[in-house]
Amino acid sequence: MGTRGKFVRDRTGRRPALFLFLLPLFCRVLSDPIRYAIPEELARGSIVGNLAKDLGLGVQDLPTRNLRVSTEKKLFTVSAENGDLLVSDRLDREQICGKKPTCVLELEMAAEKPLKFFHVSVVIQDVNDNPPTFSANVTELEISELTLTGATFALESAEDLDVGVNSLQQYYLSPDPHFSLIQKENPDGSRYPELVVKAPLDREEQCCHHLILTAVDGGEPARSGTTQIRVVVADANDNPPVFTQDLYRISVPENLPAGSSLLKVMATDPDEGVNAEIAYAFINIGEAVRQLFKLDSKTGELTTGGALDFEKRESYTLGVEAKDGGHHTTRCKIQIDILDENDNAPEIILASDTKHIQEDAELGTVVALIKTHDLDSGVNGEILCQLKGNFPLKVIQDTKNTYKLVTDGTLDREQTTEYNITIMATDKGKPALSSSINFTLHIADVNDNAPVFHKASYLVHVAENNPPGASIAQVSALDPDLGQNGHVSYFIVASDLEPRALSSYVSVSEQSGVVFAQRAFDHEQLRAFELTLQARDQGSPALSANVSLRVLVDDLNDNAPKVLYPALGPDGSALFDTVPRAAQPGYLVTKVVAVDADSGHHAWLSYHVLQASEPGLFSLGLRTGEVRTARALGDRDAARQRLLVAVRDGGQPPLSATATLLLVFADSLQEALPDLSDHPAPSDPQADLQFYLALALTLISVLFLLAVTLAIALHLRRSSSPTTWACFQPRLSSKSGPGIPPNYSEGTLPYSYNLCAASHSSKTEFKFLNIKPEIIPPQDLLCDEASWVESTSNDNPKTTSNSGNLQQVSFFKTLSFDKCN
Ligand SMILES: *[C@@H]1O[C@H](CO)[C@@H](O)[C@H](O)[C@H]1NC(C)=O
Ligand SMILES: *[C@@H]1O[C@H](CO)[C@@H](O)[C@H](O)[C@H]1NC(C)=O
Ligand SMILES: *[C@@H]1O[C@H](CO)[C@@H](O)[C@H](O)[C@H]1NC(C)=O
Ligand SMILES: *[C@@H]1O[C@H](CO)[C@@H](O)[C@H](O)[C@H]1NC(C)=O
Repeated sequence: MGTRGKFVRDRTGRRPALFLFLLPLFCRVLSDPIRYAIPEELARGSIVGNLAKDLGLGVQDLPTRNLRVSTEKKLFTVSAENGDLLVSDRLDREQICGKKPTCVLELEMAAEKPLKFFHVSVVIQDVNDNPPTFSANVTELEISELTLTGATFALESAEDLDVGVNSLQQYYLSPDPHFSLIQKENPDGSRYPELVVKAPLDREEQCCHHLILTAVDGGEPARSGTTQIRVVVADANDNPPVFTQDLYRISVPENLPAGSSLLKVMATDPDEGVNAEIAYAFINIGEAVRQLFKLDSKTGELTTGGALDFEKRESYTLGVEAKDGGHHTTRCKIQIDILDENDNAPEIILASDTKHIQEDAELGTVVALIKTHDLDSGVNGEILCQLKGNFPLKVIQDTKNTYKLVTDGTLDREQTTEYNITIMATDKGKPALSSSINFTLHIADVNDNAPVFHKASYLVHVAENNPPGASIAQVSALDPDLGQNGHVSYFIVASDLEPRALSSYVSVSEQSGVVFAQRAFDHEQLRAFELTLQARDQGSPALSANVSLRVLVDDLNDNAPKVLYPALGPDGSALFDTVPRAAQPGYLVTKVVAVDADSGHHAWLSYHVLQASEPGLFSLGLRTGEVRTARALGDRDAARQRLLVAVRDGGQPPLSATATLLLVFADSLQEALPDLSDHPAPSDPQADLQFYLALALTLISVLFLLAVTLAIALHLRRSSSPTTWACFQPRLSSKSGPGIPPNYSEGTLPYSYNLCAASHSSKTEFKFLNIKPEIIPPQDLLCDEASWVESTSNDNPKTTSNSGNLQQVSFFKTLSFDKCN
């Protein structure tokens, strides 16, 4: 308990006033040590007090007593002159006493003579010489932004070395809307400040607050110290990330290469640090989609992880979550629309199984059904289906995606047996894609082609006397149809031969079309005949074609000439001709008449004198056979002459016949007869013959006229049946070709007449000729005189050349009738 005195520094007085104040104290307790009180930091040499006097020592005693301060630390000295206690060193209370509330220096004073200690206490009083100080100029304080209002944070106290009222008294804080200050007291009474949060903090709004804390002491004047307080608002993860868009929408073409960047999602978080570190991730998407898209968790970049196929899926909605370092998440959606690209070629399918079509299929017959399909959409999926190439077919659309292949022209298997069809489907994308199908359409055969003969008609020459069974001709026809439809067989369907006899004349090989002669032909009997051959295929129904085959039987020189006149009498005796004795040269005596059954050159006869009893008397017409006198009969010439005449035909080699002419020069028959009396021959056979000949001719003519008249009458009566009249002009030669000499007709037959008959009724009209009508077709009668021979006699005329009635027939053989209608 020290006495407190107010130190007044008075330079005028030798003692401070304090001393006066303390004096009674000394008086009262003399044994108490002497106490002085001085303020700290007194200058050196300042007088603390007059120690000598206070100790009761006289100034004169001082040198002897040698009063001194015995303490080691020489803070004070004693003045030897007047015994004043002087300050000899710096007196810093804070240094000497620290924070002790009272600072008392106990001094031991030593005096000699007598040796004696004196105790002196010097109280060093505090002076406000130290301001409050903070240990740091800047104090950083981190406060979470989530700190509730009212929360307090202890701040560092300032230190003021002074004590008492000079020590730190008060803290002040610079005004701030968020903070205030309160002061608290430590158990030792010292004060410390506490910062109070008075309003919510938001780092995102203001991350840092600068405050100034001031500490003020209670000195007079007061001193103060400040420190800066930087309040850093610590981030709390109080903000969720926020996407820049709730929905990201993007359209991308399909078939992007994997790894293509599509877009970048971005979320921001106003927090900082890990609280603002955002990780992106897909949410709620399937594994398949996860394969297709990759999301960079850091950058938010969305890339493709596989090929996007519009045809598989046209759009995707992806959920993306952004998560900050804490627990805040935000979601957004990405809508990805895939744009179609023309990446799929159209598909084309043949929906039917047609491989064949009949060649007679009607126009518009459906051949095949075609389906198309394109995975692409829009124009990329619009398909054009067409037929490649030029075919009698076309593709028509049935429904949107189906087509029909129909015939669009005539099909002909014989022309084209199959079509290799390519049908192409092209979409309308850019560039267009296409695909095609190929199939072969076979054209099935229909029997639509009749056989066709190689020639319009056939004409063959066959030399007569051919061996039976010889092939004489071959016809062939072609049928372009297939198989049975094109398999041709040959038949004879008609002929101008007598029907029953046909098979004995010719036959045809059904397979080969070779025509065989069934017998040896005789030109003299059958000069020509015509067959109608049919080629027939085996289709159903069968088709056929007819062709005419005309067979000409060519003549061979197989008949020798036949002498008709002169002939032997009925009894086999030779006949004679009489010549008037006065006959002039050139007188026509007689005529050798011969015929040859052959025709043409083979029947071109020439007459030659082989022997003459009087050569040079008679001349013989080479071609005419006329015997004329070459000169007048001389006296020496015999009355009876004999001429041997050879008749030769023109064949190679020629065939010949001979005739003997007996000529008698006489003026009358009676004159001639005696010459012939030695001959057993009956009288005048020549005249008989001539008579019969004339009679026969007349008879025939009359009968003929009768018949014609009858026929006309009949036909007039049967007016309902139309009648055509055919006129026939008999010719004297069978052929009038250039090879026939002009005088041929003249020499062979001097008769000429017109024969007219109704062609339809000729069958009956010619009955009078004793010809069996059922075996002679009318045309044979009219056109083919050769059949007459056969009709009148079943014998071979060549073998009965001497028969008298046949001479008449042979006479007609050289007649040729041409149809003149
Ligand atoms: C504090 O500030 C004062 C005055 O600006 C300066 O002299 C002193 O060095 C500073 N102390 C520290 C620890 O920075
Ligand atoms: C059709 O194709 C087949 C097989 O490739 C071939 O043998 C035939 O000759 C072709 N036909 C036509 C008419 O091109
Ligand atoms: C169809 O034929 C055409 C031409 O002959 C050919 O280019 C194409 O590749 C074929 N298509 C198919 C599917 O065989
Ligand atoms: C062929 O001739 C026969 C008989 O004359 C006849 O019946 C048939 O119709 C003819 N066929 C043709 C195709 O002319």
